[in-house]
Amino acid sequence: MAGMNAVDLIRRKRDGEALSAEAIDWLVQSYTRGEVADYQMSAFLMAVLWRGMSRAETVALTLSMLHSGVELLVREHLTPVADKHSTGGVGDKVTLAVAPLVAACGLPVAKMTGRGLGHTGGTVDKLESIGGLRTELSQSEFLDLLSKHGLALSAQSSELAPADGKMYALRDVTGTVESIPLIAASIMSKKLAVGPSHLLLDVKVGSGAFMKNEQDARQLAETMVRIGIDAGVRTVALLSAMEQPLGRAIGNALEVAEAVDILRGAGPADVTEICLHETATLLAMAGLVADEAEGHASAERAIRDGSGLAKLAEVVAAQGGEAAQIEDTSRLPVAPVRETVPAPQSGYIAAIDAEHIGMASVHLGAGRQRKGDPIDHAVGLMLLAKVGDHLEAGAPLIEVHARTAEQAQSIRAELLSAYIWSEQPPLTSPLLLGSVSS
Ligand code: URA
Repeated sequence: MAGMNAVDLIRRKRDGEALSAEAIDWLVQSYTRGEVADYQMSAFLMAVLWRGMSRAETVALTLSMLHSGVELLVREHLTPVADKHSTGGVGDKVTLAVAPLVAACGLPVAKMTGRGLGHTGGTVDKLESIGGLRTELSQSEFLDLLSKHGLALSAQSSELAPADGKMYALRDVTGTVESIPLIAASIMSKKLAVGPSHLLLDVKVGSGAFMKNEQDARQLAETMVRIGIDAGVRTVALLSAMEQPLGRAIGNALEVAEAVDILRGAGPADVTEICLHETATLLAMAGLVADEAEGHASAERAIRDGSGLAKLAEVVAAQGGEAAQIEDTSRLPVAPVRETVPAPQSGYIAAIDAEHIGMASVHLGAGRQRKGDPIDHAVGLMLLAKVGDHLEAGAPLIEVHARTAEQAQSIRAELLSAYIWSEQPPLTSPLLLGSVSS
């Protein structure tokens, strides 16, 4: 577009000006074509992080990112068809359990999913712990899997919202993740491109989430729900706590194994509660059950009768993965070093800072510190005690799964600094904090 230039738009956003839809679209499309440099987009993203965006700008950014690529619109091939997305947390393996549970209950799930961002893990990185599993699927493969198995688990296609692919990788390494308009546009451009009929968003709140307080999380939830509904997608957002890591496992293969435990009915209580709730909500949203109570019963049945786990194994096999690793998770990649960190004192665990724990797992190699860094799928952490547990000094606190003994040693202080101890049992807060539906 004549007259537009990146430096001018960066300056205007830096100075707090609201940009027109045309200006935002020019910047996003020029960046996607490689005509605006990474360093300019980084500066723009930082300006947005500081200055924010109006609702109109956020919608314009979302639509521009959506229109940067093709639209799959799965609901035109199959209806109803669901998608679920978490804004990201530590130990959040919910998608790995909920997607097969929902599909096993008869509601197809079209899941395109991202890589780890900052201190949070990504479902594709977790899935790639499974030997042979192909997550780079063409659109026709994705649709084919969906119609045959009622479930497809794919990396975010680079053809869908490619602007987000580029911006997401840049934000991960430039400290520009924690922004309501950037997160809303990132998530919703991808979701609208996939185009389910029903979308459940899990907006995480707390130290391990990008939104540190409930007010910001609610604003993010409302922004995304409005964008979804305006685009014709039945959208609900849950708000859920991410103060301490979810479940016990943090790290890619370890989280796949814990998702399998959940599907076997042997998962930790907190993450299982979220999985049952999300499955029930999606089934009720799509009208497959009369209400959430019935949805809950269906989810529990799919755990009890093994159909959720069978669905995961079926889709892993269909995507070329070793289903035997799902049936027997001891066959997933294993770290050579396993060390237990003991409790440094006696008392109740009053808090476990999820962001600290997430960063410690990144430092082990479970996440990326620089764009494109490889992931070590085997490394990670097992929390042997959670908030509210009482331990004696010296009792096992955390199991570190590392590539080398030096690596395990190097994160000890960082890990222990995540813990707050108390002599009194702490007050525990609820995991599910509410929902936004319109
Ligand atoms: N998840 C996304 O897909 N995008 C973000 O910006 C944050 C979390």
